[in-house]
Amino acid sequence: MSTSEAPKPADAEIDTQKQLDYWNSVEATPNGMLGGYEHISRIDIQGSKNFFAKLKLDRTPPLRIADCGAGIGRVTKNFLSKINSEVIVDIIEPVKKFTDEIAKPENFVEEKAAGKIGKIVNVGLETWTPEEKAYWIIWNQWCVGHLTDAALVEYLKRCAGGIKDGGMIVVKENISNCPDDVYDEIDSSVTRTDHKFRALFKEAGLRMVKTEVQRGMPSSLFQVRSYALQPN
Ligand SMILES: C[S@@+](CC[C@H](N)C(=O)[O-])C[C@H]1O[C@@H](n2cnc3c(N)ncnc32)[C@H](O)[C@@H]1O
Repeated sequence: MSTSEAPKPADAEIDTQKQLDYWNSVEATPNGMLGGYEHISRIDIQGSKNFFAKLKLDRTPPLRIADCGAGIGRVTKNFLSKINSEVIVDIIEPVKKFTDEIAKPENFVEEKAAGKIGKIVNVGLETWTPEEKAYWIIWNQWCVGHLTDAALVEYLKRCAGGIKDGGMIVVKENISNCPDDVYDEIDSSVTRTDHKFRALFKEAGLRMVKTEVQRGMPSSLFQVRSYALQPN
């Protein structure tokens, strides 16, 4: 009989306290949010705008958005708050020192976005439940790697209950270029394969409306892919 054990799945190493310790050590700046690659922010935001436009969502108010794993609000400030004059963006982010930046009115004055910020909720997505049918968009960018596969499926099921009719869940994440998911011990996250993402969306009862690879990223970085999802 063989004594060798099957290798652990990548998400078995996920440690929430380690994640929080890491992010609390990171500077509350765009460069901190992007791991030293601040210069990719502009192209990322433009890619998100293009992807979102193609979804052709109905814009009948209320237009409440959740920016999940929002960090210092980079996506909210440059994109989500500017979609429409009616939008209100709730911020879901476990690290308070990041959301303290969002709460500073001077950081959102230039874009006239200050009045667009709704609630700021300092929790991890593994414990957040959106209000029922409250959101037009639930935007998740560069953060769901902090959840185990099982926690991500449960979270996505809760999101399905949290979007209003015609609303959309968007997941925009790095994609593993290996055959399997890859664990990153620095921030205790997993980078998933496209195949794994699709399987987890299916398990959560979500239908993929659109998916697209972000163009123009440096070839030294992971591929970045956006997925637009709705309940089946
Ligand atoms: C790479 S940054 C991305 C921030 C923002 N989405 C952006 O694109 O600029 C990852 C963010 O995920 C947050 N995070 C860490 N653990 C999390 C968790 N369990 N749930 C939600 N967000 C988490 C971090 O605090 C950090 O703000």
